[in-house]
Amino acid sequence: MVLLEATDVVAGYGQTEILHGVSIFVDQGEVVTIIGPNGCGKSTLMKAIVGMVRVRTGSVSFQGTDISGYPPERIVRTGLCYVPQTSNVFPSLTIRENLEMGAFLRKDDYRGRIGQMFDLFPDLAAHPGRKAGSLSGGQRQMLAIARALMLDPVMLLLDEPSAGLSPAMMQTVFDRIREINESGVALLLVEQNARDALGMSDRGYILVAGEKRLEDTGKDLLNNPEVASLYLGG
Ligand SMILES: Nc1ncnc2c1ncn2[C@@H]1O[C@H](COP(=O)(O)OP(=O)(O)O)[C@@H](O)[C@H]1O
Ligand SMILES: [Mg+2]
Repeated sequence: MVLLEATDVVAGYGQTEILHGVSIFVDQGEVVTIIGPNGCGKSTLMKAIVGMVRVRTGSVSFQGTDISGYPPERIVRTGLCYVPQTSNVFPSLTIRENLEMGAFLRKDDYRGRIGQMFDLFPDLAAHPGRKAGSLSGGQRQMLAIARALMLDPVMLLLDEPSAGLSPAMMQTVFDRIREINESGVALLLVEQNARDALGMSDRGYILVAGEKRLEDTGKDLLNNPEVASLYLGG
């Protein structure tokens, strides 16, 4: 069974239709990346999948259940967690408090999970009492990912996790993302750093003006001359 399947999704804001019938899927354990120009609807597609933007027509199914129309908090409970590009941590709360907030839906003892997050992100473990607002961009991004992982999701959606980071920090974030995937979590990424993202992706999609332009393996997209000239800096 396909893990996540979006079929002919139409969505937008007010009178404006942004996604004109987009279909994508993610299999169990896969890393799948969506790339495309600014404003083409990548974030809108993620928001439609997690219930933050209404799916006007078409459908989204997760683990065989049609989740289109579910409110976001119900979708989270199915094991599908979303890390938005910005405003993804509580700046006035500490690292530890952010992780505790991430566990808000858990009924069990989540302290062990916080320990696992500190193992995965040693940078966060060093200063658990630091306010999230005082962290560097990279640390903040890792905290946002760790917060989403507190719920032990089946699948994570990450919207531009490496945006605005130094090359070294970007590499660290990608390394962590790969480890998370190796632990069994399926990933759907939106990335501007297309070369790095496609390099670690099983498959990818090119979205242009609210429509799917291309889909292929990460490797073949990297080797596609059209993709290279338009999205990989030649
Ligand atoms: N909350 C919103 N209200 C109205 N228009 C929006 C909103 N969010 C995004 N848009 C518009 O939708 C289009 C797609 O945006 P987005 O999905 O964020 O693109 P991408 O993530 O690919 O850069 C853009 O034209 C953007 O201006
Ligand atoms: Mg975006």
